[in-house]
Amino acid sequence: MVIGKHPIIFTVFGGTGDLTYRKLIPALYNLKSAKLIAENVKILIVGRRDFDDQTYIEHIRPWVEEFARLPFGENVFDELTEHMQYIKMDFTNPEDYAVLHELYGQYQNAQFLYYYAVAPEFFPMISNNLLSCGCMDDQSTHQVMIEKPFGTDGASARDLHDQLLKVFDEKSIYRIDHYLGKEMIQNIMSIRFNNVLFKNVWDHRSIDYIAISAFETVGVENRGAYYEQAGAIKDMLQNHLFQILSVVLMEEPTKDVQSLFDHQTDIIRKIKPIEAKDIKQHLILGQYQRGSIDGKEVVGYTQEKNVMAESKTETFVALKVFVEHPSYKDIPIYLQTGKRTDQRSTEVLVVFKAVKDQHPNVLTIRISPDEGVYLKFNAKKPGNTQEIVEVSMDFCQSCVYENRLNTPEAYERLLFAAFNKDKSLFTDWSMVMASWGFIDQLNEAIRQSKMMPLPYPAGSHGPEALKQFLPESYFIIKSG
Ligand code: BG6
Repeated sequence: MVIGKHPIIFTVFGGTGDLTYRKLIPALYNLKSAKLIAENVKILIVGRRDFDDQTYIEHIRPWVEEFARLPFGENVFDELTEHMQYIKMDFTNPEDYAVLHELYGQYQNAQFLYYYAVAPEFFPMISNNLLSCGCMDDQSTHQVMIEKPFGTDGASARDLHDQLLKVFDEKSIYRIDHYLGKEMIQNIMSIRFNNVLFKNVWDHRSIDYIAISAFETVGVENRGAYYEQAGAIKDMLQNHLFQILSVVLMEEPTKDVQSLFDHQTDIIRKIKPIEAKDIKQHLILGQYQRGSIDGKEVVGYTQEKNVMAESKTETFVALKVFVEHPSYKDIPIYLQTGKRTDQRSTEVLVVFKAVKDQHPNVLTIRISPDEGVYLKFNAKKPGNTQEIVEVSMDFCQSCVYENRLNTPEAYERLLFAAFNKDKSLFTDWSMVMASWGFIDQLNEAIRQSKMMPLPYPAGSHGPEALKQFLPESYFIIKSG
């Protein structure tokens, strides 16, 4: 499929930042290589650094070589960069937008897509500048793609939203949660809704508990200043883990994108709030200490750059929730995420109720780094015996070389969707608010209960207290 009849003008603000180099440019390269970007897509890179078109193109070449999913080819790179232009300007200065105004004037009835690869505090400013420079004519369409965080709580998210609404309408705002672009998260819906095997057992009569986890071995890297304000709850739980949860439990949507958003939001709204008096049964916070990862010594969180020595920011969270939906009542759902743990792994574990005293059936959906589906069930041990043993079926999607090549990475999928005005892979405003509704309340309960993060050594599974917090069978399943 080739994109669009009208020209698409894709402008990246923050064109000399890490996100652009590591994610956006390689994703554009992959799309070009897969022939998913037509000739009529123009890429405008906005940055303050002293590049011209040629020096910028030379600068991005090694990033593409290193980070693109598809093999580097000189022809593809040339085809991509032929439609790329570097614009040296200061996006905080309204006068500098004259150059954009002039450029945009060359295109009529175009689709203008702006990507704000900059800190959120600049979103309203860039939007206002685009509007007041006369860059946004009404014959064209104007869409904006923004990165999380969407606010730091419900009130600031609303404030940001209101400011953006002065320039863009809701249907033109594409909020990125890159987890929605991941292959296996999209696949969760396909697995659930296209197999009678799962469709008919997906409720409290059959499910014992669900565990959704996203563990990382990396620390906060060079993002200490941001992470101090965010912590694991706002950095991962409020967005990525809630997205996964909503996809795991939502009712089957119709083809209409609004139906998808409504069903996702419905699940998030139904997460039962946690009160301060019950918090210990529902939450564990942790903070990594000095330790070792892959045999290499690493510092603790408070020794990281731009982190306060006495910081109480959590780098690990384990949360147990219930969703007040008739199908899922009483199913405990464990959401866990942590940095500097012993593994890099994002997965969904659905543990079914055991029949008699047998092992429970377990469905594991592996999201990353390996992608696949894994099912454990019981069968007779071969031979002259009636003994029942646990067996497993493993569908490792990413083990097949062709699958790896054909599976677009998250940013590729998201850019392609935005070029095609497909909002289904983006976060709806109602979901942002539903999720902040729960998180604001949780943070208030943490404040009231004065809960502090527990230490865990880097390279461990998390705080020791997890052993009492998670069901016993969880550890057996994970070690099996
Ligand atoms: C980002 C968080 O949104 O997601 C990071 O800000 C985190 O802290 C990252 O490392 C994890 O993404 P992935 O795709 O590696 O699981």
